[in-house]
Amino acid sequence: MTRPLVVGMGGSLRTPSTSLTALSVAVEGAADAGAGTVVIDLKRLALPFYTSEHGIPASARQLADTVQAADALLWSSPTYHGSVSGAFKNAVDWLALLADHDPPYLSNKPVGMLTTAGGVQGLQAINAMEFIVRSLRGWAVPLVFAVPRSSRIFDGDGRLTDQAVADQLRGLGAEVTRAALQFRADGTCDYAQERAPGAVRE
Ligand SMILES: Cc1cc2nc3c(=O)[nH]c(=O)nc-3n(C[C@H](O)[C@H](O)[C@H](O)COP(=O)(O)O)c2cc1C
Repeated sequence: MTRPLVVGMGGSLRTPSTSLTALSVAVEGAADAGAGTVVIDLKRLALPFYTSEHGIPASARQLADTVQAADALLWSSPTYHGSVSGAFKNAVDWLALLADHDPPYLSNKPVGMLTTAGGVQGLQAINAMEFIVRSLRGWAVPLVFAVPRSSRIFDGDGRLTDQAVADQLRGLGAEVTRAALQFRADGTCDYAQERAPGAVRE
């Protein structure tokens, strides 16, 4: 059996971006668990604001095609004003391009969610993501991780300095890979396995 493809998507428009670093670590966890991986850095993708009126920009087509090819996704947004960032929401709005696929949108794709937050309310961004996942017909993986107090967890260059947080992010990547393999095997998903210590179930 070929390796499942786990696509990470996120980061902020800031450099360095803690949510991009966190995403990269989770994606490493997915790779360690046996997945092929791709990271979509939303800053580099530079998507225009979503509209259906002026044709499809190449960046949006690239996003939609990469997501369509994925067996599972990892989403990472910074927590902005108690939710996801506008840039992240704009990216998922472009997934409207998958509406006409069969099956549509994110059908049969598990989605692992993480955020970095300046404070301790990152779960609000996770909850916003979960609403979006459900609306796109994806499967929100119950294991999530909101990294709190990002300025204490990442250094000034955006590097992750906390080993326990790194382990939890890798655990999330591994869980998403496991879910992807299970979907592939029989089209169902049993999330009831042990999970990374300290990670939160929604
Ligand atoms: C516009 C804006 C809104 C923010 N809102 C929140 C918030 O509601 N709660 C919070 O805990 N942190 C908030 N933060 C802090 C960011 O979540 C935090 O700095 C995060 O690590 C940024 O991610 P990044 O490094 O990927 O840009 C906000 C930051 C900005 C710039």
